[in-house]
Amino acid sequence: ASQELDDENDFDYDPCSQLGPNNWGNLNAQWRACGTGKQQSPVNVDQSCAPPDPNLNALSTAYQSADAIMKNRGHDIMVEWPSGGGTLLIGSKPYELKQCHWHSPAEHTFNGIRYPLELHMVHQSKIDNEIAVIGIIYGVGQFPDTFITDKMMSALSEFISTGQNKSNLGITRPPWIPCRSPYYRYLGSLTTPPCTEGVIWTLMKQTRTVSREQLDLLRDAVHGNDNARPIQPLNGRIVSLYQRPRKEFSSELSTQ
Ligand code: MLT
Ligand code: ZN
Repeated sequence: ASQELDDENDFDYDPCSQLGPNNWGNLNAQWRACGTGKQQSPVNVDQSCAPPDPNLNALSTAYQSADAIMKNRGHDIMVEWPSGGGTLLIGSKPYELKQCHWHSPAEHTFNGIRYPLELHMVHQSKIDNEIAVIGIIYGVGQFPDTFITDKMMSALSEFISTGQNKSNLGITRPPWIPCRSPYYRYLGSLTTPPCTEGVIWTLMKQTRTVSREQLDLLRDAVHGNDNARPIQPLNGRIVSLYQRPRKEFSSELSTQ
């Protein structure tokens, strides 16, 4: 009885299934990168090995509240801003915020540890269609995530009780990304078919929390199915770290 919007029932996350992640690359000629790509996502971040990169800048975002729609895509839940949710600047290049969606459990791992939830903020450049994704990892905790509004919670409940797959959220504020937050940066891919490479990944180092109720609604809306692709090999890629530059004390000390 699947009438879900954009339902990509042509792939799933069951490792034993013909449609599962180990076989995505063989399911469709356009999906070959899922099987043969050498710069795929998600990856494990070994936090003790991520070198600070002095050439990385603090995140520069200019998000705006705008009309949004929540959709059940079958394999995930997405919040989309049809007229854009603002921009992320990487270097001097702007990337438009298109949509956010959730994976549960998280797709990226930190030191091999897998958290229960990951949010992807998908941006695209108008200049060359290049994609940049910000990933935020969540544990279950006391504080609900503020991006997930009461309106979203009602929409999710409705998806579950009625099988409906689309809900107008009205004016919706994108997640809050503090500009000085440390983040990991690496070059990867989409984590769903077609697994397109050349995606600039930004993973917030700081994990956040969702309430148990928020997590349960997000999971129940996709029938309780996991939607995390297995970890992909780095194949020599470096995951680097942006951290706020520390003040230099040495010159002050030497003037005493
Ligand atoms: C991704 O994060 O790679 C997504 O799952 C792609 C998408 O939004 O379809
Ligand atoms: Zn994703």
